Amino acid sequence: MELSKKVVIIMGASSGIGEATTRLLAEKQVKLVIAARRKEKLELIKKELFNSSIDYLTADVSKFEEVQEVIDFTLNKYGRIDVMFNNAGIMPTAPLSEGRREEWQQMLDINVMGVLNGIAAVLPIMIKQKSGHVISTDSVAGHVVYPNSAVYCGTKFAVKAIMEGLRQEQRVNNIKSTLITPGMVETELYTTINNKETSEQLKNNQKEFGLKAKDIAEAVLFVINTPNSVSINEMIVRPTSQER
Ligand SMILES: NC(=O)c1ccc[n+]([C@@H]2O[C@H](COP(=O)([O-])OP(=O)(O)OC[C@H]3O[C@@H](n4cnc5c(N)ncnc54)[C@H](OP(=O)(O)O)[C@@H]3O)[C@@H](O)[C@H]2O)c1
Repeated sequence: MELSKKVVIIMGASSGIGEATTRLLAEKQVKLVIAARRKEKLELIKKELFNSSIDYLTADVSKFEEVQEVIDFTLNKYGRIDVMFNNAGIMPTAPLSEGRREEWQQMLDINVMGVLNGIAAVLPIMIKQKSGHVISTDSVAGHVVYPNSAVYCGTKFAVKAIMEGLRQEQRVNNIKSTLITPGMVETELYTTINNKETSEQLKNNQKEFGLKAKDIAEAVLFVINTPNSVSINEMIVRPTSQER
């Protein structure tokens, strides 16, 4: 299918990688439905991309009904969903010894249940269509464990396992599954770290060593724009200088 005919949903589109992907796909005339919690950010993106087919809905990915509403809206408007990009995530890292159970719960709810909610809502439609593409953002932290990041890494290892399971189960229905795995990228992710010092340090590191969000958007564009018979299942994109 021609790229400009594709209907793509992006969860976590209000900043960073999701926003950059929205902007890049809009340039290619893709039909977009974007979602996140911050309405004002989504509104601004839509305003700036006034020449594109783009709708936005506010949705919290940890709430299944809100994810379902995004799916229902898209299906009502276009009668089809080609790509579901589960990109929303937070990273309030801290050592396990600090016992930040509330943050752990939030990470599990957003990073893991958010992806599962996206899959649960879109899969019945893609199975009926006998086509579709689910893309989820994990992280290099879903492949190696970093100090003071046990829970974040745990959520991203989970996303990796879930996406491989999805691939194995749904290849028979012609549904593609792709794990996009960024290394360090300059985004707003540092703002989700509640320890001021750690947050500042990540912000500086992102600025000095990180990729631009557009670099990851290019990877997403590449995997979406493959022939029907080709499924790229994992793509790791690091800054050249990143060690692990
Ligand atoms: N930046 C990096 O170095 C890096 C590296 C590897 C992986 N990643 C992953 O990349 C993904 C995107 O993050 P980013 O780096 O682009 O950071 P970001 O700029 O903070 O973007 C995160 C996006 O997720 C959305 N979000 C967070 N919680 C949400 C929720 N409960 N419901 C709906 N949307 C939610 C945010 O929007 P609202 O706040 O408006 O809801 C925002 O649009 C995440 O999964 C992250 O783990 C990032």
